[in-house]
Amino acid sequence: MQKKLILGCLVVAMTMSVACFTVAEDMPGPDGEALWNHISKVSPYTEWGYWDDHKGMIEGRAPHGKYHKVFVNKKGIDSVSAPVQYGTIQVKENYGKKKDLKAITVMYKVKDYNPKSGDWFWAKYSPAGKVLKAGKLKGCIGCHSTRVANDFVLVHEFK
Ligand code: HEC
Repeated sequence: MQKKLILGCLVVAMTMSVACFTVAEDMPGPDGEALWNHISKVSPYTEWGYWDDHKGMIEGRAPHGKYHKVFVNKKGIDSVSAPVQYGTIQVKENYGKKKDLKAITVMYKVKDYNPKSGDWFWAKYSPAGKVLKAGKLKGCIGCHSTRVANDFVLVHEFK
């Protein structure tokens, strides 16, 4: 009887761990191509929302191009204060003077990926989705770390 109970618990525990794993698997690892697959196919970023104080096409500062749009996934939008929730992704479309899409830059918050720089995974893509650079990119971190208290986010103010 007791053996059966223990076995039962074991089966439940195993099923649960499989379920938890599946949930975590829904998000890509810190990898440029896997992240592109996620934001272009699994959960197309053009269907996400915007920060409430940064909607649609906005005129930007250097070096990202003249105009930009910043899309944010639900995890991000649901984050009311800094730091944002793990799993947050921000996708920035960077446009030139003629409002032509030049590049796509992405920030993806991954638990334990890079604790000393806010756990952000950084990536830059061509408009067609080719990985131009990805990882713990010093250039990106350099500029964005001017706002550590705002979780490295520049276009949106957390309260
Ligand atoms: C020279 C400074 C600088 C560098 C380098 C830089 N950024 Fe930015 N970034 C900005 C500024 C300023 C903004 C605010 C929007 C604007 O004015 O273009 C911004 C906004 C963003 C946003 C929108 C979310 C937010 O934090 O506001 C993303 C995503 C982003 N950058 C990604 C990157 C990535 C990826 C890299 C490296 C490949 C990078 N940035 C390098 C200055 C920089």
